[in-house]
Amino acid sequence: MRDNDNLETPEWVWRALGPIQLDPCAGLNTRIGKVNWCIDRGEDGLKKPWRGMWFCNPPFSQKEKWIEKAISSCGVGGILLLPERGSAPWFGPLAEKSNAYWVMGKRINFVGGPSSNNVGTVLFLFGGECVTRVGNSGLPGHLCLCLSYRSRDNSEVK
Ligand SMILES: C[S@@+](CC[C@H](N)C(=O)[O-])C[C@H]1O[C@@H](n2cnc3c(N)ncnc32)[C@H](O)[C@@H]1O
Repeated sequence: MRDNDNLETPEWVWRALGPIQLDPCAGLNTRIGKVNWCIDRGEDGLKKPWRGMWFCNPPFSQKEKWIEKAISSCGVGGILLLPERGSAPWFGPLAEKSNAYWVMGKRINFVGGPSSNNVGTVLFLFGGECVTRVGNSGLPGHLCLCLSYRSRDNSEVK
């Protein structure tokens, strides 16, 4: 884990998205979900099944594990927050597997981090309800659909 793996989502972001049932990777004091699993209390969000509407801002140094878990939990619907890195190897497959993604129209300064952040944020949306929620949220940004996808080695084209 790195230092910035523990930065928290500011309230103006998660409140705008409506009621959240589960934060599978909460800090000790975060109250984003009705249920908030925290590794420091021995609750491992990678091992438990995700239920209800989830919101996940994972430790970015371990994002691949959380991406895999989010994709396998997409049946219940949820929102995965990640950095805006369109050319990263994980971004295209995730764009293709999520229903849509919302590119935040302003930088988020995460709680506990520096007062200015030079990286943008994307919310990957799993399930139609999340698409509606983000549309109604009032958050600045734009909604993107992945209409076609080709993997780096050309082995997968959709
Ligand atoms: C980037 S912070 C986000 C905190 C909170 N979810 C938010 O959005 O404000 C990631 C959090 O995940 C927690 N975490 C890391 N691995 C975890 C695991 N396997 N299960 C549950 N929580 C974990 C860390 O302790 C850290 O507080």
